[in-house]
Amino acid sequence: MTTPTTTAADNPAPREAGSAVLDASGVTMRFGGLTAVRDVNLTVRPGEIVGLIGPNGAGKTTFFNCLTGLYIPTEGTVSYKGTVLPHRSHLVTQAGIARTFQNIRLFANMTVLENVLVGRHTRTHEGLFSALVRGPGFRRAERHSEDRAMELLRFTGLADKRDHLARNLPYGEQRKLEIARALASEPGLLLLDEPTAGMTAVETTATRELVLAIREQGTAVLVIEHDMRFIFNLCDRVAVLVQGQKLVEGTPDIVQNDDRVIAAYLGTPFEGEPGEAEAAEVRAAEEAEARAAEEGGIRAAEEGGIRAAEETEAATTSQSAQADQPADAPEGKAD
Ligand SMILES: Nc1ncnc2c1ncn2[C@@H]1O[C@H](COP(=O)(O)OP(=O)(O)O)[C@@H](O)[C@H]1O
Ligand SMILES: [Mg+2]
Repeated sequence: MTTPTTTAADNPAPREAGSAVLDASGVTMRFGGLTAVRDVNLTVRPGEIVGLIGPNGAGKTTFFNCLTGLYIPTEGTVSYKGTVLPHRSHLVTQAGIARTFQNIRLFANMTVLENVLVGRHTRTHEGLFSALVRGPGFRRAERHSEDRAMELLRFTGLADKRDHLARNLPYGEQRKLEIARALASEPGLLLLDEPTAGMTAVETTATRELVLAIREQGTAVLVIEHDMRFIFNLCDRVAVLVQGQKLVEGTPDIVQNDDRVIAAYLGTPFEGEPGEAEAAEVRAAEEAEARAAEEGGIRAAEEGGIRAAEETEAATTSQSAQADQPADAPEGKAD
């Protein structure tokens, strides 16, 4: 018998409404004597785009590896939608978390479409035997998978490259393909590890649009990135890792003006206006694209793209190496 003093109407909010997509609690990762991640708590709520920044070696990728079951954290737990995740990456993917890697991991000799189809395998139930025999169930599943994969290629702007080998794509498109492949597992949370590394400013802007569109489709996003403008213009919330510890967390506005962040990481306050260097980069990229198109070879365009990406990556690496220098996170700051 119920004698309710409160009715459902008094308490209408379903529990899920406020619950986290991701809840990492007290995550610590030690490698021998080195503590790469120390007691980090982080939540991502439904519909959020959360940024994770910090100098090279701060523990960002290690933290991702702990979230995705690649590493077993020395301490702490990771929950997805209220359920503690197992320490097995394929089970984490199956649960609903997908990721891209800092160093692109594609099947270089497979086509663009095939790479996305590989990403779908956690969502198809047809087993290996069925695949080998190619029975009707398999063919039906295969058609459905292919439709969905093409949808994702259209979504990421790669549909016309479906039959290209992954290794022949320009660098920026390889990164997009990684995202398409991750989305193929229909994740509720997407983890992106430096998605714009080596990209031109034009590609970076396109990536921002893509991440916003992914959120619109109901997937929450946690993104590691060195490009401060990208992070602060994109994220609802930003957490800063320094020497494995979370130094600050808050809205972009709070984080970019936090003295500890400026001292430990940014060096100088972030400025929202694109600098002349970036404007010049956009112009150069556009001119190079136009020139390559004139020279009539998609091949030439691709090679140019890869060279430009490599050059940009080299420049970015040396820049971020410099930016990472001064921090030496003053003793006692990281608390
Ligand atoms: N598998 C590993 N074994 C030992 N040390 C590691 C391993 N992975 C990362 N580290 C160390 O952990 C620290 C954090 O690295 P990482 O997570 O890659 O930093 P970030 O992604 O922030 O640049 C670094 O000192 C790195 O050398
Ligand atoms: Mg990293």
